[in-house]
Amino acid sequence: MPSVGLRPSLPWRREHTESPDREGLEGRVLLSRPIPSTASSPSTAVEHPMENRLVLGRKGSGKTSLTRSLAPRWTRALLVDPFGEYADLCDAKVRTVPDLRDYLATTDGAWRVSYTTRNVREDFPVLCRCCMALGDCMLVVEETSQHCSAWRIGQEFLELVEYGRHALEEETGTAHPVGLVAMSRTPTEIHNIIRSQSWEMDCFALSEPAHLEWCAKVVSPEFALRVRDLDDSHYLSQNLVGARRPFEERVTDPAFRSRGYDGNRPTSGMSGAVV
Ligand SMILES: Nc1ncnc2c1ncn2[C@@H]1O[C@H](COP(=O)(O)OP(=O)(O)OP(=O)(O)O)[C@@H](O)[C@H]1O
Ligand SMILES: [Mg+2]
Repeated sequence: MPSVGLRPSLPWRREHTESPDREGLEGRVLLSRPIPSTASSPSTAVEHPMENRLVLGRKGSGKTSLTRSLAPRWTRALLVDPFGEYADLCDAKVRTVPDLRDYLATTDGAWRVSYTTRNVREDFPVLCRCCMALGDCMLVVEETSQHCSAWRIGQEFLELVEYGRHALEEETGTAHPVGLVAMSRTPTEIHNIIRSQSWEMDCFALSEPAHLEWCAKVVSPEFALRVRDLDDSHYLSQNLVGARRPFEERVTDPAFRSRGYDGNRPTSGMSGAVV
């Protein structure tokens, strides 16, 4: 039996229709069974704010806490969560691709899943394809530098970053965008395409000179100076597209503080066993 931990269902906002046939989509091997989806019924599409966000900051500065505070707004989200830091905000925690597939087949089209495996690198391309096939969802990536480098990015991740906004339902040609939240301690070690396709950047304290130089180039020298002196849990929020508004300093909501790594143990928010 799959090791899927469930909690009582979250207050989903919409009813969802079942997609009778997902064959032909890129994720077909993974999603070989019919799965609930909004894709065949645009009128019932899940409402979720589309995000393309980059969250940066040195170790322990507040990245996970900020992203935790965003999670409740996503009604369809796959969180690549190697240390189980989002499990209490999700309705399922899975460790393998077959478990994910099995879990998705039980949902009504709304799902927020923590993918909690320390060796997530290997599965990551499949998770990207899964999100592209499902559409109308968010992929949230802890430790983005595990899945790309400044010089290399896998095809599946690249496609999601570049074309996620245009993910299409094959049969109807309707857009079902896939958003991304990418977190990293090291802006210089993630592929530039991720930054260039981000609409928002939230930057906690950084101290490494190369990272500060990066901030100065991407935003401004003033931004880099402020980033260097930020206290933990404080971050600068900057939009990266259109006419740039001035950056704003904000503080993470203490109600969503991360509790640190749970060592892949079941968390108190989960009622089901995770073996
Ligand atoms: N607003 C806050 N007030 C007080 N403590 C906070 C606040 N936000 C976060 N923290 C605490 O700061 C610590 C680090 O936060 P968090 O885990 O979010 O950082 P991180 O940047 O994700 O770290 P890492 O790089 O190790 O993943 C945690 O113990 C968290 O509970
Ligand atoms: Mg973290």
